[in-house]
Amino acid sequence: MHIPVLTEKILEYLAPKPNENFIDCTAGGGGHTFAIAERVAPKGKVLAIDWDPEQIKNLKLKIKNYKGRLVLREGNFANIGEIARQEKFHPVHGILFDLGLSSDQLGSSGRGFSFQKDEPLDMRYNPNNPDTAEKLLNYSSKAQLEHILKEYGEEEFASQIAQAIVQSRTQKHLQKTSQLVEVLVRATPKWYSRKKIHPATKTFQALRIAVNNELENLREGLRQATELTGLNGKIAVISFHSLEDRIVKEFFKHESSLKPMTKKPITPTSAEIKRNPRARSAKLRVAIKP
Ligand SMILES: C[S@@+](CC[C@H](N)C(=O)[O-])C[C@H]1O[C@@H](n2cnc3c(N)ncnc32)[C@H](O)[C@@H]1O
Repeated sequence: MHIPVLTEKILEYLAPKPNENFIDCTAGGGGHTFAIAERVAPKGKVLAIDWDPEQIKNLKLKIKNYKGRLVLREGNFANIGEIARQEKFHPVHGILFDLGLSSDQLGSSGRGFSFQKDEPLDMRYNPNNPDTAEKLLNYSSKAQLEHILKEYGEEEFASQIAQAIVQSRTQKHLQKTSQLVEVLVRATPKWYSRKKIHPATKTFQALRIAVNNELENLREGLRQATELTGLNGKIAVISFHSLEDRIVKEFFKHESSLKPMTKKPITPTSAEIKRNPRARSAKLRVAIKP
């Protein structure tokens, strides 16, 4: 089960009030969605979006108590403008992005998000996405792979790993996560495998970001969120790695219609991290449209 991150801070900053409307761009298991929906009762609505049809299917089973106040939509938040228009969802008092993937997807999606499971190298949030990790790994050039690993994983052994992938696929098509982990462990020095973080962590992150075009989606989602938000509306983003946090920080700084409410990102308390280790790298930034 996915445990929502920084929920109290989200409620403090977004400050949902009765009869206001909010968009949750990354509904996942619904933790934040339901917390916000409770506070906007009796007439306020939440438009809850997720790109993963599995997440939407599971959420559908949980929304009975909200009688029309919770609108579920499968979709990419890079299209929230269009989705909100189709749903005639306005005015918008606040928008939330809780980026990345949920614990459910990591643990039981069967789509190869985790290097601890032996699953097909898919890594798509949505099955209609044309690219899979398998396709990237087997058909990208060495230079393209190296670029992905460096840019999206900040992987110091990007060149060695890319070379090893290209070599390995000449013998056998890469299909399963276990094959990739094997290649990675062989391509990196022994001390790398003894570090606290697994040698596959950065490569898996990089591939997931590339497969789903995550950084572009974030830029476009923020741009459209800014247009949708009404006066005094807020945009809150929880990110989990420096690439995303940098995009959010720069966007809030340079977008003239927004004013950052958080000078420094808000991070979870040690008590929250103890309860939910996944929260440890979370950073929350919030901006208001004054
Ligand atoms: C960290 S989880 C959200 C967890 C949620 N806040 C909760 O409390 O359960 C991130 C979710 O965003 C979804 N997602 C990732 N990229 C997306 C995108 N571009 N558009 C919409 N949803 C996306 C994932 O499928 C995943 O369910």
